[in-house]
Amino acid sequence: MEWDAKKYNTTHDFVFKYGAGLLELVPKEPKKVLDIGCGTGELTKQMAELGHEVTGIDQSLNMINQAKETYPELIFLQEDILNPSDQIGLYDVAFSNAVFHWIPDQDLLLKNIGEHLNVNGQLICEFGAVGNVQKIREAFGRELNALGVPFEEPFCFTSVENYRILLEKNHFEVVEILEYERPTPLKGGKSGLNEWMEQFYAAELEELSGEQKDKVLENMERDLKSKLWNEDHWEADYRRLRINAVKM
Ligand SMILES: C[S@@+](CC[C@H](N)C(=O)[O-])C[C@H]1O[C@@H](n2cnc3c(N)ncnc32)[C@H](O)[C@@H]1O
Repeated sequence: MEWDAKKYNTTHDFVFKYGAGLLELVPKEPKKVLDIGCGTGELTKQMAELGHEVTGIDQSLNMINQAKETYPELIFLQEDILNPSDQIGLYDVAFSNAVFHWIPDQDLLLKNIGEHLNVNGQLICEFGAVGNVQKIREAFGRELNALGVPFEEPFCFTSVENYRILLEKNHFEVVEILEYERPTPLKGGKSGLNEWMEQFYAAELEELSGEQKDKVLENMERDLKSKLWNEDHWEADYRRLRINAVKM
């Protein structure tokens, strides 16, 4: 899926705004940091301002171009963490916000991160936990089902128990692993749910005709109104997994 970087930065800026909390886990003294899936580079910039030597990588050309345009003084590389080039060196910290659930092969992801971390290097990341945006996903699944369109979940949401096993298998020692609910207000008033769908289920919606898409989104709004509408905005049922681990 290709990202609409401008829309991401204006309508879905909550992603990196919430991600700022994760910066508190980054050591205070200057470190070499790899920001994996840096998107438009907002958190990369904040880490640079804290004194770290940061490289942002992202597989999306749109995101990387936007990051380079906004912060030309920083290093951004278009890279897929599942197939990294030799340009990526060794780091003290691998940082990542709201990325891992987009990556189907978690084992390869952690193996590759381990290969780019110094011994005792830190992995600090946050992403969707099991049950993340469950009500939205279920409603979308129901609509596609009714149309006879197969629904293949693009996300990989996981639990504390499963991720601890995966981290240990990949030679990380867990310092902290936390699963928590984070109800997330969406921007845009009534159109907030549609805009969220257009960003995060862009690839799946593209498969539908214009008429089908309108119908699906309209039905979802009706279906979810009693569950996720809160006075004047939609509130998405986010659940997150936050990890602080050290490479052994
Ligand atoms: C929701 S955005 C988060 C961006 C940024 N971390 C932030 O907090 O604003 C997810 C990002 O992960 C990137 N991404 C997904 N899979 C990736 C992969 N295999 N390698 C590198 N980046 C990836 C996407 O291109 C996208 O920019």
